[in-house]
Amino acid sequence: MTVPVVVSTRAELAALLAPARAGGARVGLVPTMGALHEGHASLMRVARAEVGDGPVVVSVFVNPMQFGAGEDLDRYPRTLEADLEVCAREGVDAVFAPSVEEVYPGGDPQVTVDPGPLAELLEGRVRPTHFRGVLTVVAKLFGLVRPDVAVFGQKDYQQLALVRRMVADLCQGVEVVGAETQREPDGLALSSRNRYLDPEQRQEALVLSRALLAARAEATYGAAAALDAARAELRSAKAVDLDYLVLTTPDLGELPDDVAPGTEARMLVAARLGSTRLIDNLPLVIGTAGSTPQPEGGS
Ligand code: PAF
Repeated sequence: MTVPVVVSTRAELAALLAPARAGGARVGLVPTMGALHEGHASLMRVARAEVGDGPVVVSVFVNPMQFGAGEDLDRYPRTLEADLEVCAREGVDAVFAPSVEEVYPGGDPQVTVDPGPLAELLEGRVRPTHFRGVLTVVAKLFGLVRPDVAVFGQKDYQQLALVRRMVADLCQGVEVVGAETQREPDGLALSSRNRYLDPEQRQEALVLSRALLAARAEATYGAAAALDAARAELRSAKAVDLDYLVLTTPDLGELPDDVAPGTEARMLVAARLGSTRLIDNLPLVIGTAGSTPQPEGGS
């Protein structure tokens, strides 16, 4: 088991990565806010597969700028010792755990990343300043670590789409890889927030992945059938307060009314269980190339 080197400043990180860079190795970055679980571990494995023998860096930084009013920054779990164990198990080379001052010298930045219209949808409706904070810190981490490739989870699908958009629009030259969502055996998507669910809520939360799977199964009959199937599942869970359920193009655009068979789409769902807000999403294919058989009883 490799013990990762823990650094907290840009200078230490640059010195640590210099030999690998000089030797032409690719540098991989997994940005995190800590509280690492198996989902993060899978991102580290994807980063390792991307860079081979090159260094994999995991950043652990609870970014104040992405927390809005009423979102408890102080309550966010900080578990560095346990995080280092996860990183060690996954053969991570370096953990970059900077202070707030290192990332935001001089306090709040005057120049920030405007995430554009995509950030006003979905999560952006309930968290209006969130993605400005996320993209600003990701841009900073890219500047601090200078990775060749960065790995983000598909679980936070809107975040992934926005990071891709930022990298393209601002010509940042970082390859962005979206890693598949990791799930518990019963389907619950892994999330740092699952720890806030009581056993009853944990059970109710399964309705999110059930809804997505029902939609995927019915998608062969069209977009409306997929949405109906998901809504029917969600209605069955009384303690789940649905925030949104949408079916979009893979880059979160609007699907046309006359979706051609075989069209790839993304279904995204967000709901509250008590004070915990959960999100999940799944890719699906609308219709079946060639034929679109009707389900028994019609749709
Ligand atoms: O997904 C997260 O953990 C955070 O939003 C990120 C990308 C590390 C930025 O703080």
